[in-house]
Amino acid sequence: MRYRFLAPSAAAACLLLAIPASAAQPTPGAPGVGDSYYPESGNGGYDVSHYDLRLKYQPKTDLLEGTATLVTTAKQDLSRFNLDFGLPVSEVRVGGKKAAFTTSGKHELVVTPATPLAKGQQTSVVVRYAGKPSELAIDGFTAWARTPDGGVIAQEPEGSAWWFPGNDHPTDKATYDVSISVPDGTQAISNGVLLSESSKLGWTRYNWRSDKPQATYLATLAIGKFDITKDTTASGLPVINAFSKDLGANDGAARASIERSTEITEWLETVFGPYPFNSVGGYVPNVPAGYALETQTRPFYGKKAFDRGSNVSVVVHELAHQWYGDSVSLKDWKDIWVNEGFARYSQWLWSEKEGEGTAQELARYAYDQHPADDPFWKVKPGDPGPENQFHGAVYDRGAIALQALRNEIGDDAFFAILKDWPTVNKYGTASVKDFVHFAEKSSGKPLAQLFDTWLYTDSKPAAPIAHEAGI
Ligand code: ARG
Ligand code: ZN
Repeated sequence: MRYRFLAPSAAAACLLLAIPASAAQPTPGAPGVGDSYYPESGNGGYDVSHYDLRLKYQPKTDLLEGTATLVTTAKQDLSRFNLDFGLPVSEVRVGGKKAAFTTSGKHELVVTPATPLAKGQQTSVVVRYAGKPSELAIDGFTAWARTPDGGVIAQEPEGSAWWFPGNDHPTDKATYDVSISVPDGTQAISNGVLLSESSKLGWTRYNWRSDKPQATYLATLAIGKFDITKDTTASGLPVINAFSKDLGANDGAARASIERSTEITEWLETVFGPYPFNSVGGYVPNVPAGYALETQTRPFYGKKAFDRGSNVSVVVHELAHQWYGDSVSLKDWKDIWVNEGFARYSQWLWSEKEGEGTAQELARYAYDQHPADDPFWKVKPGDPGPENQFHGAVYDRGAIALQALRNEIGDDAFFAILKDWPTVNKYGTASVKDFVHFAEKSSGKPLAQLFDTWLYTDSKPAAPIAHEAGI
């Protein structure tokens, strides 16, 4: 134990007055975790280990009512802390006792417990709320999409503050129980496994559980008329897919793509090692979006992703994220390459396996698409800036970087890294720099210059050359 003395000169005489450092005044938790791109994301002072969300949604009125119970542990003597949340709150309790709360900034719910929390103390935080999530704009952004028969939330880098209070940064992962009640005849989809489904008084309650660490933005919820299909893989993993009943002309293509998830997961296991979660699948709500998102265990696919027929490649991308992005998450949003570079490269590996072009050929193709004066080469995949976080360069140039690595260290060392990285960092977080060090250590080669060229320069590098294959 450290002691703080009242006055150095009086120290010898005052031993009995020594104050233990732990008796320092409790202080407020920081309003953000200090992310480089999103300083207000997440909060300081505590960690969440579990979210228990008990919700009710009425599609007719877009009213979401909820009680969120967070299991938290204080990381400091804490007088006050923030939650990232935007809907109207009626009550907050900390450790069972009513707590004072106020809102501040863009999306911060500031909670002052009746008594301060001691460092290391585990406490439940209960937040009761109700509001119309589709009308909520945080910093000008809406995230909850209302659909003709319900609603859906699947957004990156931030999505949780539109439907539950939390510590919204990938550095604080937790397990989830999402229990949601919807009018009979309507379905609700979330992450993990469906523990139970029961109907009472005209409402059906769906209890979903995601039992491995999960980042807040990877939590998802969809309400609507869905066809839910259930299966198991050869190894016993539950496969749950859900298709809106109103996919119209895209229904067949969506099913033809997402039903390949089992096969794709089995193949990805041969490349990345064991699948890290308790369930797998995908869902397609009735939203006119063309993007997809790697929501944990159950990626979201906008129905327009299937406008041009089946799209197996996007399924490969989102399922690859289950290892690269979900189990191993970025440490800071500037590290987005540890997600997207690898997910895109996985699509190239799938193509290589299918005989539709090797990764080297596809890397060269992507490289040739962009002449030297294309602004594409101005974006640095290793630190693209928040405005370019999902720029094509993060994906394509980011994947070319991996082909350059493969060419440099050879297939054996390269594929060993692709398996070892998700094993060593399972359920954790990692940065681009961490990967560079890992690749150097693992291959025994200096790689700083290679990664500097591909991830951190703002001009077109020399073309990637496959030494071994001589392509
Ligand atoms: N991680 C997603 C993917 O590439 C990116 C989603 C970006 N789109 C968005 N609307 N924020 O699979
Ligand atoms: Zn992606």
